Amino acid sequence: MKRIVTLTLSPTIDVSSHVDYVVPERKLRCAEPLTEPGGGGVNVARALKRFGADPLAVFTAGGHTGQRLVELVEEEGVAVEPIAIDGLTRENVTIREDASTLQYRFCMPGPSLSRAEWERIVGVLESLDPAPEFLVASGSLPPGLPDDTYAEIAWLANARGIKMILDTSGPPLQAALDAGTFMIKPNLSELAWLEGDAWIEDEEHLWDAAHAVVREHDCHAIVVSLGAGGALAVTEAGALRIPAPPVRPESKVGAGDSMVAGIVWGLEQGWTALEAAALGVAAGAAAVMTPGSDLCRRDDTERLHAQMRERRQPLAAIS
Ligand SMILES: Nc1ncnc2c1ncn2[C@@H]1O[C@H](COP(=O)(O)OP(=O)(O)OP(=O)(O)O)[C@@H](O)[C@H]1O
Ligand SMILES: [Mg+2]
Repeated sequence: MKRIVTLTLSPTIDVSSHVDYVVPERKLRCAEPLTEPGGGGVNVARALKRFGADPLAVFTAGGHTGQRLVELVEEEGVAVEPIAIDGLTRENVTIREDASTLQYRFCMPGPSLSRAEWERIVGVLESLDPAPEFLVASGSLPPGLPDDTYAEIAWLANARGIKMILDTSGPPLQAALDAGTFMIKPNLSELAWLEGDAWIEDEEHLWDAAHAVVREHDCHAIVVSLGAGGALAVTEAGALRIPAPPVRPESKVGAGDSMVAGIVWGLEQGWTALEAAALGVAAGAAAVMTPGSDLCRRDDTERLHAQMRERRQPLAAIS
């Protein structure tokens, strides 16, 4: 029985390497590449596994890269439910230029999904028995699926009493919010888009925008991630401004997914959404400490969370 299921409609194989200089028109001899599974929900499941949870990762997989993706996720001990598709699972490439330490991230669009493939995904979610407590849907939509795709999943989750945590952006996020979602985790620009604003100007604007989302939708909680600024969590029951613990930054890649995993780990332990959001901030900061695309580690997350509690940082609440 799985209490947490993650869904990734456009997962990836992430290939990363590094090279002295990135210059055009020349062959760039890169170092031995590292190959890892990727995509929002897949990463959330991997991080949850590190925390000792036992999630089920549901994701699309096609062709030899899809097969490889299944192997890579299984190698980390994560239970998988791959949904076979005709297209080839995409591969993304990240190259770090050693001279500048800048990362260049090349993201492919991923294969389109047909109506029949989409219906298979819905069938898998409908047949989860017993229904999980949490469904984490994360990542962009593959080409071919309409903007109301996550909304359809939200209806399904709501009908089955499953709490959906959604991390995506733009029209698919808006549509799911209109359908009713337990929790969303936008960053600042994703929140600004939702509110029809070009950007969020200051703390007051942030506060108003986050409250508007909860007030105007069937949405229990919003956690707005603010990078090095931490997060603002707003629920029907109150709000918490959570500063991030200071860390020595290595790579920001994986911060958002690690944060979502930290939040869900907290929720699974029966914590309130506000308490869980603080654990999410610790997990996001822990991911920033790890190099490349590595996710947060459990010991770093726990240490940072304990530090935040000692400094009573999560108590910087605004009522
Ligand atoms: N420089 C930093 N120092 C400490 N913590 C950080 C830093 N950057 C990010 N974090 C942590 O990670 C969380 C998520 O980061 P961020 O707000 O950048 O998410 P995101 O924009 O969704 O990221 P992603 O690009 O991974 O989707 C933050 O709320 C914070 O807890
Ligand atoms: Mg994000």
